[in-house]
This record gives sequence, structure tokens and C-alpha cells, in this order.
Amino acid sequence: MLLVSSPDGTLDVRLSVESGEARYAVARFGRDVIAPSRLGLVLREGSLASGLVLDGHERRSADETWTTVWGESDTVRDRHEELAVALRQEASGRLLRVVFRVFDDGVGFRYEIPEQGGLTDLEITDERTQFAFVEDAAAWWIGAYQKNRYEYLYRRSPLSELGVVHTPLTLETEDGLCLSVHEAALTDFAAMTLVRTEGTTLKADLVPWAAGTKVKARAPVTSPWRTVQVADGPGGLITSRLILNLNEPCRLEDTSWIRPGKYVGIWWEMHLGKSTWGSGERHGATTANALRYLDFAARHGLDGVLVEGWNLGWDGDWYRDGSGFDFTAPHPDFDLEEVARHARDVGVSLIGHHETGADVANYERQMEDAFALCERLGIHAVKTGYVGNDPEVVGPDGGPGEWHHGQFMVRHYRRVVEEAARHRVMLDVHEPVKDTGIRRTWPNMMTREGARGQEYNAWSPDGGNPPEHETILPFTRGLAGPFDFTPGIFDLLFEEQRPENRVNTTIVKQLALYVVLYSPLQMAADLPESYEARPELFRFVEDVPTDWSETVVPHARIGDYVTIARRVRGGDDWWVGSVTDENGRVLEMPLGFLDGGRRYVARIWRDGPDADWNERPYDHEIEERLVDAGTVLTLRLAPGGGQAIRLTPAGADDVRRPEGGR
Ligand code: NOJ
Repeated sequence: MLLVSSPDGTLDVRLSVESGEARYAVARFGRDVIAPSRLGLVLREGSLASGLVLDGHERRSADETWTTVWGESDTVRDRHEELAVALRQEASGRLLRVVFRVFDDGVGFRYEIPEQGGLTDLEITDERTQFAFVEDAAAWWIGAYQKNRYEYLYRRSPLSELGVVHTPLTLETEDGLCLSVHEAALTDFAAMTLVRTEGTTLKADLVPWAAGTKVKARAPVTSPWRTVQVADGPGGLITSRLILNLNEPCRLEDTSWIRPGKYVGIWWEMHLGKSTWGSGERHGATTANALRYLDFAARHGLDGVLVEGWNLGWDGDWYRDGSGFDFTAPHPDFDLEEVARHARDVGVSLIGHHETGADVANYERQMEDAFALCERLGIHAVKTGYVGNDPEVVGPDGGPGEWHHGQFMVRHYRRVVEEAARHRVMLDVHEPVKDTGIRRTWPNMMTREGARGQEYNAWSPDGGNPPEHETILPFTRGLAGPFDFTPGIFDLLFEEQRPENRVNTTIVKQLALYVVLYSPLQMAADLPESYEARPELFRFVEDVPTDWSETVVPHARIGDYVTIARRVRGGDDWWVGSVTDENGRVLEMPLGFLDGGRRYVARIWRDGPDADWNERPYDHEIEERLVDAGTVLTLRLAPGGGQAIRLTPAGADDVRRPEGGR
């Protein structure tokens, strides 16, 4: 048996090879969390999961701190102990390596199939990795292999009752230990889902190609890292940077063109049915409308304007057939050159849109020209989209049948990231493959959807996202990486356009989401007129940053409430977002994260005394008071509500103000 402990000894991993099978186990403070669990791959060429013997091992320690281009923190410490084991299959002589990295906040391991005689082009048909959890736990999950990709409400049930689920899978044991099972650095492999095989044991389940095999590769092959993050409570999962640490360092030499920011867009109006993507009298992406949005963004200091429906291809059944999309031909009533010129004149970035309708072959044929056009016009960000049912991505042979998260698409999404980087374009991917931290390597991969976002509130027949949704997302989808949820809807009821639908939050909760749901590109999703009607609330959206130096989590209870505080990158201001589910709450928040030697002006946007997401969602109050690191703020959150706070170091004038004064 081989043992490797995390740097401060919190976690131990034991590796054993017995009766030809390799197993690992994970213990925390000496108590097993994962019981001995199988390791191994099955290839079409033969099994690398049985008949194994240990053929040597190596150890390494690492402790380095690296700087993020953007993110939830400006630096990340990567401190781990590594154990690499070489396994040999006795009968065939074939080699498999498994590399473990053990951090204090979790474990990652990956497979490597070295270059070796008789094993060049190969196919992986199964992965045998198990996660045999020692005890049952509450699990928050979405099911895999469903038509709407990852766009489902998270459900909570015992681990012992799960079927096949996507990762990140979040678990909480009875005594409060929190775990997240996911993967890191998925760049040329099938995504891993998890299937429960018995009791509380899960097994890796790779999303197949249409033709059945799981992964096609040429040796040497490196799998993504299989990860298990472990924390004392749910907040520790949010502040863990293990997924990023297991990705390769940045490959882009010049990152000066990569800029986090906020954007508005010709977007919500289509989701409300006020205008259309396709041609006709209500076409949203007209030159005049784009200029209106650009001027609005310029007036309010927002960085970008997204224009959807600007190009040809939207007039047919684009959800089912993306073959008509043209990524360089604007719609006749959209003067792309003029809009791009105006954007430059007013100092706002135009954000491109490439909806593919999941016809990947059609997109790949045009991709290079499309990004070259962006570069020429000064478009430094593009939102891509892959609507279409799963598994109906138009695959390599033109036929439908690939999943959004099989190897074919993983490769495609990565190719787009690389092509975009060549043209200095940042990406916001909708209908993506899940995030596994590749933003560290390609920091132009800014944000993505990959969950039920705000748009479901506009049109979903099931009543939209329930108030608890946003109290689950930071602990599930959010653990994978940035999420383009598109917060900031101010007209919560939109009775004129869609009386059957609404947003199930208070208006203040919409503000809090800018801090709670991290994204380096953050949308101000509502219509300009909705913002202009409420300047005192819009001020928060105008000013809130999207790039941070530090992140702390003062309150965390999955599915109930969460408070996140972040310090702006390169500055001293702190911003706080707190959100609750359908229950109102009073939370005490000590401001110990503030700089001890200073006083701060706290500008507080909070639910009014009568606010309630259902009855009085607009009721709010804005208050200013002086605080310091010793202050304990009482946050009163209405049912379905929230609170948003900006904390700015006080100037001489502020300090003369009376305590708690407005
Ligand atoms: C679905 C995306 O999530 C949404 O943001 C976009 O507007 C539509 N597809 C059309 O591309």
C-alpha cells in the first residue's frame, strides 16, 4: 500500500494493488470518506483495469502561488503532494500511470497511457473509476442524458438513491462535511457523468460518441483529472481553487485584450416576445435599436452590447436546424459596419453572437472567417450558442447524434476557444460543455451557461426558477466556474409581454446576484427602459465590478441562503451579495473581512420591511452608514429576497458623519 498525505495532513490517499486491481481510498483526519474504490480504463485493445501489478512510483511536492488573469481572487496557491504510480498489466505488458495530487481541500487524479509498442491509436470504451462513499449524504444533482442538456432545476435526494448524474455533484453528510465530485481540464476526452452502481458507490460514466465508443486517442493519452473537493461546510467548496490548480498555466502570451466587464443586449426583448430574432416588423437587431443600446451603455458606463439576431439564418426552425446560419452575413436591416463604427465612437464594445443551432459542421466551416470579421471590426467578445436537443448535435458525418458533452463536442468547444484567441476574442458559451477550469489555460474562455439561467423566467411553462434556485447554484453549477446567468431583471412581472410568467425574486435579490453568481462578463439583462425607471437601483449594477482580488463566504446553507463578499481587483472596496430561498431570514454578518485599521461607508440596498418575492417584490430601502471590521451587520432578507452592499473606505468627510447616519 502507498500513502500520500496532503500538505497539512488533513487528507490521506491510500493506493493499493491487490488481486490485479488498483484501488484508492480517501480519509479526512484519519476517517475514511471514500472507501477503497476501483481505478482503471478499458480499451477496445484490452483492459487496463485488471491483471495489474505495481511497477514503481514517484513522489513530488509543490507549493507555488500563481496570478490569475481575472477571477474570484488575484492569486491562487497551489500546494499539494503528488504520487504517481506506474501499473503494468502482467499478461499484455501494457502500462498505465495514475497520478494523484492531494491538496488540503481535496484530491485530483488522472490516468496516463504512455506511448508504448502496440498501443498507438486507441479507443477507451469504459472507465472503471469508482467513488465509494463511506456514508450516505444529501446530494444536489441534475440528471445526465436529458434533452435539455444541463438546463434543469437541481434536485436534492439521498446519494443512495441517485441514478446517472452530471458533475459537479454536491454532497453533504449528516455531520456537515461537504464534497463536490467533478473533473478538471477536460480538453480532449468525453465528459464524465456519474452512475450509482450500488449503495453509496458511484462510477465514472463517459458520455459516448454516436458510434458508441467513449474516447478516441493516440498515445500518450492523459485523461482529465477526477476531482473530489472536501470542506467542513458548503462555503469551503466555493473558496476552493482545486479545479483551477489542476489546469495547465495560461498559454496566451498577451492577455492585455482580455477584459472582464458588464454588458447589455438586444436579448431579453426576444425572450419576452417583444421582438424577434428573425426578420419581420419586430426584428430586434436593427441598426437603430443597436445604436440605442450602444448609447445607453455609453451613458451608464457599461462595457458592451450584445446583439442577437444580427445575421442570416434565423428565419427557419433554427432550434432544430442550424444549417442556414451565416456568421459573416448581416441581416439587411442591420448595418454591421455602421454599428461597429458607432460602438468605437462611443467607446463601447460590440459583442458578437454565433448561434449555431448545434450544426457544428456548418459553424466550423465558417469559424475562421467569422472571428477574422470580429477582429477587423473591433469585436472582442462573442457569445456562442448550441441550441438543439441532446443528443442531436450535427456530428462529423453530417448526421445528428452527438451529445453536447461527448468528446466530439469537447474538442469542438476547445477549437473555438483557440480560434477565438488567435483573433483576440473572448467567449461566452451558451449550451456549453460544463466548465472544468480551462479558463486558466485559455483566459479568453470567460463565461458560459450550462444551467437554468434567468431566461427560464421569461418563458418556462413550469413557472420559472423557484426562489431557492439561486441559493443552490453557487454550491453546484457555480463550483465548475463562471456562469452567465444574466441577472438584473428590474421589471419582474412583465405583465404586458408575458402575464403568465414572472421572475420569482425581489428586485434587491436581482442586485445581490451580481456578487453571488460569479461571472467575469456579467449581463445587465433587462431592457434599457426598465433601468432608466429605477436609477437608484441601477446604480448598483453600474458600479459593481466583475473581477475580484478576494472572495469570502460569510453564510452558506445549500438551498436555503448564501452570502458572498468580494474585494474588487486592485482596490479596497468590498461588495456583498446575500440571497435567500422562499423563506425570509435575519443573518448576522461580522465584517471581520474588512481591513482592521479603517472605517468604511456601507451603502446598503435591502428588501423593504414589507417586501416579499410574491406579493411586494419591488419594496426596497437604500441606506448608508459607517462601519468597521468590528461591526456586525444584521441582514434582513425578505422571502425570496436578498441584500446588496458596497463597502468603501471612508474619506475624511464620511468619518465626521454620525454613526449609522444616512
Ligand atoms: C439560448 C441561449 O441561452 C440564449 O441566451 C439565446 O438568446 C438563445 N439561445 C438564442 O441564441
